[in-house]
Amino acid sequence: MAKLGILTGGGDCPGLNPVIRAVVRKGFLEGYSTVGIKNGWKGLIENDVEELDLKKVSGILPKGGTILGTSRTNPYKKEGDVAKAKDAYKKLGLSALIAVGGEDTLGVANKLVKEGLNIVGVPKTIDNDLSATDYTFGFDTAVNIATECIDRLHTTAESHHRIIVAEVMGRHAGWIATFAGIAGGADIILIPEIPIDIEEVCELIKKRHARGKTFSIVVVAEGAQFKQGSMVVQEEKLDAFGHVRLGGIGEALGQLIEQKTGFETRVSVLGHIQRGGSPTANDRVLGTRFGVKAVELVKDKKFGRMVSLRGNKIVDVALDEAVKELKTVDMDLYDIAKVFFG
Ligand code: F6P
Repeated sequence: MAKLGILTGGGDCPGLNPVIRAVVRKGFLEGYSTVGIKNGWKGLIENDVEELDLKKVSGILPKGGTILGTSRTNPYKKEGDVAKAKDAYKKLGLSALIAVGGEDTLGVANKLVKEGLNIVGVPKTIDNDLSATDYTFGFDTAVNIATECIDRLHTTAESHHRIIVAEVMGRHAGWIATFAGIAGGADIILIPEIPIDIEEVCELIKKRHARGKTFSIVVVAEGAQFKQGSMVVQEEKLDAFGHVRLGGIGEALGQLIEQKTGFETRVSVLGHIQRGGSPTANDRVLGTRFGVKAVELVKDKKFGRMVSLRGNKIVDVALDEAVKELKTVDMDLYDIAKVFFG
């Protein structure tokens, strides 16, 4: 029986298990057995694997996270790791490997394809910042969670006549902030794509209060930064893919808003809550469609390709294309959000 490998790398997100289930089920129909590689590229380097059969993937569709575990291990960071990964790929007798991840995991996949491995990519991230696909699974769930949190913050902000700043994830793109901000009726949405003008933010809040409102909700993306000033980070240390840990802009913003407007302000950091729990129906469907298509690409020997959503169609694009640039927020969408500011 031909053998498929599958791994999930980078930050986890809701919808990974639907992909794993779809790969195993579609693979079985096409005559492949599937082996799960544990904890992303780390599992391939260490040859840490488990057989996946129909029984193993039964019941995982609504489960958040990934049954395979994940890591941010980058084999190109440590001398000898690429050779170990290639060796394990050979020893396992894989016909192909399906790598499910964001720009980092897929960046490694792209390099390994050039070293001769048969790899197909599946894009995932709550940040929705991957070019070459309209949406990634995980994003819809994160947006729904963030929206529910904003709804909850509304009722307490209103009762106490406060400003509440909600800091959401999204790394260097403001997709979660923009979607959840629009859906949750935020009074201001601040994103990394547009530097924050604190005077303008305070003016908008004051204007809103001048027309009788006694509370405001400000949604800020963790990667947003002030016009004057640098990015606020939790720690300077970089991970294996060169990322800093973002976070803290909400607190900095909240303090300035309170100082400059005189309105009592609180800050709520939504954090990893946005990444946890069961995927929405949309993310289950997208993950399932991606998983099935990935097996079809393997069957057609279309290696070095990534499954992608374009409009309502699942297509495939070059991995090269997928990792080329960050997909930032569409300004037409942000203009719609701005109609409701202040
Ligand atoms: O990329 C997904 C993401 O959740 C980002 O939105 C966030 O900045 C980062 O991962 C957090 O990473 P970690 O799980 O390492 O704290």
